[in-house]
Amino acid sequence: MEGVVDVYMRDILTRIGGFDLCVSEFVRVSQHLYPASVFYSLCPELQNGGKTAAGVPVHVQIMGGETHVMAENAAFVAELGAPGIDINFGCPAKTVNRHNAGATLLQWPDRLFDIVSAVRRAVPDTIPVSAKMRLGFAEKSLALENAVAIAEAGAEKLTIHARTKMEGYRPPAHWHYLRPITERLSIPVVANGEIWTPADYVSCRDASGCADVMIGRGVIARPSLGQEIAQLRKEPKIGTAFNWSQILSILVEYHDLIEGMANPPRQAGRLKQWIKLLSRSYEEAGALFTRIRRFEDPRDILAEVVLTRERVLDAA
Ligand SMILES: Cc1cc2nc3c(=O)[nH]c(=O)nc-3n(C[C@H](O)[C@H](O)[C@H](O)COP(=O)(O)O)c2cc1C
Repeated sequence: MEGVVDVYMRDILTRIGGFDLCVSEFVRVSQHLYPASVFYSLCPELQNGGKTAAGVPVHVQIMGGETHVMAENAAFVAELGAPGIDINFGCPAKTVNRHNAGATLLQWPDRLFDIVSAVRRAVPDTIPVSAKMRLGFAEKSLALENAVAIAEAGAEKLTIHARTKMEGYRPPAHWHYLRPITERLSIPVVANGEIWTPADYVSCRDASGCADVMIGRGVIARPSLGQEIAQLRKEPKIGTAFNWSQILSILVEYHDLIEGMANPPRQAGRLKQWIKLLSRSYEEAGALFTRIRRFEDPRDILAEVVLTRERVLDAA
């Protein structure tokens, strides 16, 4: 997730566990071959064998509408050591769509086919090429046709965010629309959208027919979610989320990791962003966010997190 799930977030979440695979933030490729520095900055794991410190592969996501530019950049990122390439046909951002990429392309299944097949041809057979799409642009009538085009072009896997571009991020996610696609395609279909709890995972799996899911915001709000779902897949029993003091310890660890970022206001921004997103699952995070929202120095935020953890432990 652009601006949210960067190398530090992937590091900490994959060390917590439950993930088979990560996908990088999208790299917008529009007109030319990008230098290695662009790919290294969005996916530093390329310099670590394409894996997070915990050993989870990170596929590099590219987004664009020019077939030959997509193919050329995909071939290059494969040379840089990407363990897989993912193509974004889901991004709803206006700036992106004005430039003819992301979810805009869902209006033309033949263009999806051309892009995926060109990327597939450009990348060595040993490197998987996958795609991510939404159910459509303005409406869902082309969902199956788009999915078939992507599969027939040689994608090894398709993730579907169960909403149209026009539906943005507005709940609900229409998981049941994935079922005819799952039944028709011979490649794995991965469901995405609005999975916040293990119970949501079960509902999504039952509605969509997809055993595999991709999770964005849900795992930021509930860092144990990957682990809980992995456990649930082994034995059908709902586990428990981390308690608040465990979350505070994770935030301390995250602070230490992002000290690698050159820019302290950016570090503070990332910490605030995570604390705010945590408030969806942890009421206490809302109160903590109110206390730190004006802090600009990450050390002040850390001090408040540590103090809060001491209070929670004392009260236990
Ligand atoms: C801030 C933000 C950034 C995102 N960046 C990306 C991205 O770079 N690539 C991508 O495929 N999806 C991106 N998405 C979409 C998510 O991957 C996901 O499809 C969407 O949030 C729905 O899933 P969720 O309910 O699990 O979050 C982004 C979403 C948000 C909110």
